[in-house]
Amino acid sequence: MLNAKLIVDKYFRTGETDPRIFGSFIEHLGRAVYEGIYQPDSPFADEHGFRKDTIELIKEIDVPVVRYPGGNFVSAYNWEDSVGPVNERPKRVELAWQVIENNHFGLNEFADWAKLAGTSPMMAVNLGTRGIDAARNLVEYCNFKEGTYYSDLRRSHGYEKPHNIKLWCLGNEMDGPWQVGHKSAAEYGSLAWETAKAMKLVDPDIELVACGSSGLGMPTFGEWESTVLDYCYDSVDYISMHTYYNNHADDSADFLANTVGMDDFIKSVIATCDYVKGKKHSKKKINLSFDEWNVWYHSNEADKKLEKWSHAPHQLEDVYNMEDALLVGGMLITLLNNCDRVKIACLAQLVNVIAPIMTSDTGAWRQTIFYPYMHASRYGRGTVLTTIKDSPKYDSKSYTDVPYLDSSVVWNEENNTITIFAVNKSFEEDMTVTCDLRQFGNLKINDHIVLTHKDLKAVNTEADPDNVAPSHVKDDTVDNGKITLILPSQSWNVINIAIM
Ligand code: AHR
Repeated sequence: MLNAKLIVDKYFRTGETDPRIFGSFIEHLGRAVYEGIYQPDSPFADEHGFRKDTIELIKEIDVPVVRYPGGNFVSAYNWEDSVGPVNERPKRVELAWQVIENNHFGLNEFADWAKLAGTSPMMAVNLGTRGIDAARNLVEYCNFKEGTYYSDLRRSHGYEKPHNIKLWCLGNEMDGPWQVGHKSAAEYGSLAWETAKAMKLVDPDIELVACGSSGLGMPTFGEWESTVLDYCYDSVDYISMHTYYNNHADDSADFLANTVGMDDFIKSVIATCDYVKGKKHSKKKINLSFDEWNVWYHSNEADKKLEKWSHAPHQLEDVYNMEDALLVGGMLITLLNNCDRVKIACLAQLVNVIAPIMTSDTGAWRQTIFYPYMHASRYGRGTVLTTIKDSPKYDSKSYTDVPYLDSSVVWNEENNTITIFAVNKSFEEDMTVTCDLRQFGNLKINDHIVLTHKDLKAVNTEADPDNVAPSHVKDDTVDNGKITLILPSQSWNVINIAIM
């Protein structure tokens, strides 16, 4: 049995969680849109062609914001192709994923779908092949009330009221040589500044995310962020971060240790933002939008064999296992513990494409990673308390001093609850965690949800959708405000505690 201790003080607070850190992402890629959220000929479709079964699961998670329409897709996308009568929309060669895009689902359908799914859009503009003009016209189409060319065009398409989309990404991964319209940091920074200026002139209430590096491993990481912010600091609100982890090496201890790397990545980007702030003598703080994060690797080999120029192929369809759920849980904990600066985060993606939700002709099901994501979204809103953690540690191939315990403590004053999120990364030993919460008064454990499986490679499939599913632990004790928790080996845990 491993032993760990959490030290918490109700006055030591990291910050309030912005609900948008539980966001996600739908790209025109693979079967995310077509067959994922939109499939008019499916028995699961509503009168608009939206799949009701996926909407139900998305509501179960409670996803506050969904990034759209890409991703790499957006860098060669003409938004005008996606509006107006469906039968007049052009079919295009889609360069990012080498498929055919028929534009049957577009901007207005997405806005309608988002309402039904109880979420709000985070739109990306194309800064690859296009620029200032297309971006400011798009804001006018979406947000301007009436009486101008683009607002009246929207109204002629049946949308009398503006969509009022308030969160926008200035392109996608513009540092990546794979991106159509890839740019140097100076080229992108200057374009982002001018585009942001024009977009905010159309609607001053919007918030803008500038592209940071597409990953920590990029050779331009750091320099990219500081150059881009040098140009556009005053006109943007967030800088983006992206990361995907893999276990190609089949080294599970090292794989789970990636939460240490993710935390370092966040701290480095914060430091870079604050370096530019200092240099500019600015009073403004740039926060982080971690708008792509997940595990992504299971589908890599299959995707190499895909035929080009089909429509909505099975692409990036990772089947997630138990250890992926543990890392996703650890990544959510890392986001929570950095909630003072990470204000937006998007699990990439939401349906069928590296996703918590999968669909087929017979229905929709929850992948293993669905559970930590859903739990964090439902229990993670509130004040994150600054926790001192005393945990046994291990060294892995890429990291040293990796705590066996990943944890975050969230106090929801409105509901009078405290929730402890915890991952026990040991594959052999259960862990006892003690936490003194006497300051909060009388406590009662409402629930201890656990996700674990004896096989780290266990998955959920269409045929066996509940192979990895949460259960409940009843061994915890409360003694005069002192909590003792038992975390099974290789488990994700959510302990919800009532303040009486
Ligand atoms: O989410 C899949 C892809 O990963 C996105 O299109 C791109 O932005 C990133 O490289």
